[in-house]
Amino acid sequence: MIKIAPSLLSADLANLTSECQKAASADLLHFDVMDGSFVPNITFGIPVLSALRKCTTMPLDVHLMIDNPQNYIEPFARAGADCISVHLEAVGPTYIREALHAMEQNGVKKAIALRPITDPDSVLPYIEEVDLILVMTVEPGFGGQSFMDSQLPKIQKVRSLIDRYHPECDLEVDGGINAKTVQKAVAAGANVLVAGSAVFGQPDIPAKIAELRRLAEETPFPGAN
Ligand code: DX5
Ligand code: ZN
Repeated sequence: MIKIAPSLLSADLANLTSECQKAASADLLHFDVMDGSFVPNITFGIPVLSALRKCTTMPLDVHLMIDNPQNYIEPFARAGADCISVHLEAVGPTYIREALHAMEQNGVKKAIALRPITDPDSVLPYIEEVDLILVMTVEPGFGGQSFMDSQLPKIQKVRSLIDRYHPECDLEVDGGINAKTVQKAVAAGANVLVAGSAVFGQPDIPAKIAELRRLAEETPFPGAN
């Protein structure tokens, strides 16, 4: 099932409530947390997520681009996250397991994220327990970058691993998704589509969401007849 996830990184943060209303036809809201260490940019964190939770009932998809994410799962869950993704490069396997355990304990959907350089097979130790795998299609840190075609084989590989080991798991792509690139990502196997600059900041946000959804839904999905 295709899901559209506008990224609030490109939203008007002074008007969160109206931005959420304009994006209400989407499936999720994507919330990019950056710490200035794991990535060279700083965005927003727990208090802003709490404020956002009061603005909308939409599921909140929290993408942690931070070091030591295992230490922050409970506060983000309490602030209103519905799904939390942690980067496999942020910390060693022991702490990834700790982070996933904390997500389980706090009742949020469990997700892992991969930078462009990371091998798709690195998801194998976790694939049977996670709800979503996020493949970055730009170097994490900034909105408005160009989609990296070099990530298409990785999306295909992760899709084949999901189909084999955990077909209910979602495959999310993040970075440079717009009307020109969305069909490549879906044809490779992605079903959750994050889009920041292609949705927020555009004059007609509902029309942009509808366009992405239409283009995605008319794209043949791998394995579909
Ligand atoms: C980048 C973030 C993305 C970002 C995508 O590190 O993870 O979620 O908002 O922005 P666009 O869609 O503009 O590439
Ligand atoms: Zn993101």
